Amino acid sequence: PQTLYFTRHGESEYNVLGRIGGDAALSARGQMYARALAEHMNGLATREPFSIWTSELRRTKQTAADIRAPKCAIRALNELDAGICEGLTYEEMQERFPQEFAWRDQDKLRYRYPWGESYIDIMTRLRPVLAALEDEHNVIVVGHQAVLRCMLGYFLDAKLDELPYMTVPLHTIVKLTSYGYTYKVEMIKMPV
Ligand code: F6P
Repeated sequence: PQTLYFTRHGESEYNVLGRIGGDAALSARGQMYARALAEHMNGLATREPFSIWTSELRRTKQTAADIRAPKCAIRALNELDAGICEGLTYEEMQERFPQEFAWRDQDKLRYRYPWGESYIDIMTRLRPVLAALEDEHNVIVVGHQAVLRCMLGYFLDAKLDELPYMTVPLHTIVKLTSYGYTYKVEMIKMPV
């Protein structure tokens, strides 16, 4: 069977501060997750080797660092580009750009940040990655909240309008195993 693992990066310094986007490093707790993840993945008794796909951002590379497998950093896996709101908290966004905040609230799927992206934009740039992933057997994707909502939504046949609200918790490995056309989902929460 085909086994695909998905995980968000470990908690970053920006996650701690509630800031959007950026290229922050992992927090101490995020580093603990990176170690726990590596221990779990390195200890798996799989016969087939797997490869690791990260984004180009520091937090996913740091999360994957200790896993013993070939890694490749893919630009299309970078997090949603929040344009003029990069680095803000949601509160600051609401204060500085109240109209933008309201528009996003009204249509989170299609809302595009000024100079940034929408969830629909992410689906578009992910298309080649998703096609490539379907041909792979054992891959671990270390990604970001919005991008993983889109990827998991794709494999699990979620409705487009539900994508922006899907729950993809930190410090949890999502394992998809396919036997033909449907995927079995397992959530493996790491104790960090
Ligand atoms: O807060 C972490 C984060 O990955 C941000 O970088 C990103 O903008 C956000 O989550 C996406 O989640 P939402 O679409 O719910 O704002």
